[in-house]
Amino acid sequence: TSGGSDAMKRRAGESAAERVTDGDVVGLGTGSTAAHAIRRLGDRVDAGLDARGVPTSFASRELATDRGIPLIDLDEAIGPDGPGIDLAIDGADQVATGGEGSEISETGGALIKGGGAAHAREKLVDAAADRFLVVADPSKESPRLDRSVPVEVLPAGRTAVAAAVREAGGEPTLRRAERKDGPVVTDNGNLVLDCAFGELADPAALSATLSATPGVVEHGLFVGLADEIHVGTDSGVRVDEV
Ligand code: A5P
Repeated sequence: TSGGSDAMKRRAGESAAERVTDGDVVGLGTGSTAAHAIRRLGDRVDAGLDARGVPTSFASRELATDRGIPLIDLDEAIGPDGPGIDLAIDGADQVATGGEGSEISETGGALIKGGGAAHAREKLVDAAADRFLVVADPSKESPRLDRSVPVEVLPAGRTAVAAAVREAGGEPTLRRAERKDGPVVTDNGNLVLDCAFGELADPAALSATLSATPGVVEHGLFVGLADEIHVGTDSGVRVDEV
């Protein structure tokens, strides 16, 4: 979990969970803000709402199960006879606003994700959903993206990807576990390089470069995917359409 007040995260998460309607299949994001959405969805299911969840991580599966939300696999949901995914609700580590106080601009709504190393499955689910609702608190908002970009790599590709990241102007750091002597290993058995590029002038171009690098499983730049940003504030929730 990162900064920002938990009350603001809760307002954002609950606001997005209120968008779910009867019969929906819902992508369940990862992190402390998405967890608030999952808990509220669980309460609504308990109260009779007919909804199913597609988890994006071990953690979101566990929480959804604990809260009594019926689950459906991604493959089944988007398969030929599947219901599809109506909406996904997921957090972010940074959200580009396109400028202080401005309407969401062309670059607005681009995200950096992967602080919880769940971005590969998150991107699969968020991209497959008809609508992707981002839930955040104001500490996540920035006119430009400038946080490190998490890049999930095949263990055998770690050195090759690090070299490609340096070539692209970034500084890669292998993510290490906090309570284990060694690296973070993702739910998919891979490693994470946190790549500092400074302020991103062109998130879409960097996204394409990283995606084209052999050994990269997935990176944390989500460009052109978000449909709504729910930002919890002191007094309520602001919803921006992208
Ligand atoms: C997980 O890998 C990330 O993409 C999360 O969505 C992100 O870290 C948001 O977490 P918080 O809501 O806890 O800040």
